[in-house]
Amino acid sequence: MNFDILTLFPEMVENGLNTSIIGRAKEQGSISIKAHNIRDYTEDKHKKVDDYPYGGGAGMLMQAQPIYDCFLAVKEKIEKEGKKAPRVIYVTPQGKTFTQSMAEEFAKEDNLVFLCGHYEGVDERVLEEMVTDYVSIGDYVLTGGELPAMVMIDAISRLVDGVLNNEESAQTESFHNCLLEYPQYSRPEEWRGKRVPDVLLSGNHKKIESWRMEQSIQRTKERRPDLYEKYEELKQCEQYLLHNKLHHMDMIEALRRGNAQLLYSGNDGVLMKEKISGIYMLTATDKENGERILSYVHKEEKPTLFVSHQEFMNDRICEEFDLHTENECLQWVYTRKEPLPIPKGMDIRRLDSIYSSTIREQYKICDAAYIEERLESGSMYGVFENDILAGFVGMHKEGSIGMLEIFESYRNKGYAKALEAFCINSQLKQGFTPFGQVIEGNEISMKLQKSLNLYPAKGKVYWLTKN
Ligand code: ADE
Repeated sequence: MNFDILTLFPEMVENGLNTSIIGRAKEQGSISIKAHNIRDYTEDKHKKVDDYPYGGGAGMLMQAQPIYDCFLAVKEKIEKEGKKAPRVIYVTPQGKTFTQSMAEEFAKEDNLVFLCGHYEGVDERVLEEMVTDYVSIGDYVLTGGELPAMVMIDAISRLVDGVLNNEESAQTESFHNCLLEYPQYSRPEEWRGKRVPDVLLSGNHKKIESWRMEQSIQRTKERRPDLYEKYEELKQCEQYLLHNKLHHMDMIEALRRGNAQLLYSGNDGVLMKEKISGIYMLTATDKENGERILSYVHKEEKPTLFVSHQEFMNDRICEEFDLHTENECLQWVYTRKEPLPIPKGMDIRRLDSIYSSTIREQYKICDAAYIEERLESGSMYGVFENDILAGFVGMHKEGSIGMLEIFESYRNKGYAKALEAFCINSQLKQGFTPFGQVIEGNEISMKLQKSLNLYPAKGKVYWLTKN
């Protein structure tokens, strides 16, 4: 991730983001942060960058020309690297309030440009010309945009791959699934007469886990009633989905992994957008309710992928969003907690982009760009025989196991079973429920799911797509 910051105070930003985890990430090359001095781009011979506002009023405004030329220089550099046009964030108290889910969304970009304002504001015309997102860090006014930009860059950076080490990223996070973190204690066992809660010294992990959960809930209720309301909504939604657990496994997992944006949740159905894949998922008790729930898709959104959980909704969804039914699938779920055995000597490795063309040739169900992205994000694995790739499997963006293929001459050697077991075990390790979706009629795959002790849902799900 590359951050470019357009500012009148470059040293403030660069010095402020040079230490601790962010400093380390810069040194390791996981992120780059470059501050650009807007003043270097002014055409004014006195190096002036501000002027009085037309129509009068207090203070000075930052002028359009130096900001725009500074932006063009950055944009040109990014384009030269073959990257797409960057999102440009103007930090302003007039923007949308920055949240963890916004940080997650921004963390998917390769480049982000921040414009930091000063004085009384910025000439509106340059904002219209270059800004894609207006973002605030809260309802208070600071003297400039540098601190807010630094806050956002810190929050975004820690979500970029490789920035946090395992220990740091494994920490339970505040806001994950709308709960604040539980209280923590370190040595000594007693300090100023206060003892560490007994349960934490008990060594009973089950008890510790449920104590922490209770504390999180209590703390959220007291300190953040607004967040607690959302937590309750998520819980109710989960309860609804659990009535038909296997059939709703994709939605339940999106919820549990903190990846569901709930658009509607009630006792007549659920509509969500899975945040990583952008897939819309709908389940409803009947057609009438389903059609009403569908109106909760935001007007400005144009879904290109829908997973409908009841056939009676397909025509309506396709009509509304100009989609067609591509696949009918059954969800298969691994409901146990125990990892599966993988035969000794199986050579399974994470695959990188070197294998992109081989995989694309073998696997036509997903398009090339998707496979490329899955490889780059480290979500595909291969099984090797004598150092030669014999087959592959992948984790889909929304969390299901799929893209399984064994090359013809390597079939019936247990490779498919080993690859899928490998994915199941790695999902279990992350605390997830492993699941996959099998296209209607794929008998070989269904046999494989059975042999690995996965259970099929009773109803089908329908993939509705653009092309
Ligand atoms: N600039 C000044 N105050 C700000 C705020 N609260 N958020 C973002 N940018 C700002």
